[in-house]
Amino acid sequence: MRKSGWSIGFKSALAALVLAILFSGIAWAGGQGVHKEKKTGILLVAFGTSVPEAQGAFANIERKVRAAFPGVDVRWAYTSEIIRRKLAKEGKILLSPAEALAKMQEEGFTRVALQSLHTIPGEEYNDLLHTVRVFRHQAGGMDVTVGEPLLSRHEDMERATEAILAVVPKERKPGEAVLLMGHGTPHPANAYYPALQYYLWKKDPNAFVGTVEGSPSLDDVVAELAAKGIKKAWLMPFMSVAGDHARNDMAGDEPDSWKNVLAKAGVKCVPILKGTAEYDTIVDIWLDHLRTAMGQLKE
Ligand code: CO
Repeated sequence: MRKSGWSIGFKSALAALVLAILFSGIAWAGGQGVHKEKKTGILLVAFGTSVPEAQGAFANIERKVRAAFPGVDVRWAYTSEIIRRKLAKEGKILLSPAEALAKMQEEGFTRVALQSLHTIPGEEYNDLLHTVRVFRHQAGGMDVTVGEPLLSRHEDMERATEAILAVVPKERKPGEAVLLMGHGTPHPANAYYPALQYYLWKKDPNAFVGTVEGSPSLDDVVAELAAKGIKKAWLMPFMSVAGDHARNDMAGDEPDSWKNVLAKAGVKCVPILKGTAEYDTIVDIWLDHLRTAMGQLKE
């Protein structure tokens, strides 16, 4: 589910620009010379998921956001065009970040705190920043601030590491591995995954992270487990939802799923199909980033 190249980023920024110009025209016609009343909203932006069972993770985030900011409108947008198209065929209309911001502007929002529900500041997050820049820089534009993804600063790395290790099932014995499955990306921000490995090892020498599409790879992890003589691993997705990657690439029945590749290497696996957004202590990190973004909105 990766998209590649700067062209898509450019395309979405361009689409944002066109939408922004269209709607700023409407805003101008309606609000010229009149002091606009302040209207604050929150826009939650996720990669998206088409797996219905994974929706619970997003519902959990929304519930916590509404409780933290009572009375503030909460909207959603998905950055994945593939997921949006797939959902549209089922009659579920999810907006892109640019469309959601344009719609909020049309509805008279003047301040929007946007929270990235991505895991690392990779391609999706950077495209988001391009889109937001366009909305910020138009005449009479909205004030839009952006909350950082889950892993951004040193404190996030420490908090996320502690939070994920704390929810490993209690049945796990010290000689057994915890293996997190991250997404991984060709974007330079892939370096967050080897960084996460460093933080994990500071807390637990048998905690590992591998990625589906980046580095460390599953091969890297298999080699680490073999070197340590580990025979059992608890598999946990390090993605906001336990969607397609968790269900198929990690725990699926195909011979190349992580579960089966590890079994072949002599490591018995226990997959846990729960996304990071289902754990309150992880959601709290995103929530604190949203709090910062809310605080950055102009009075
Ligand atoms: Co993917």
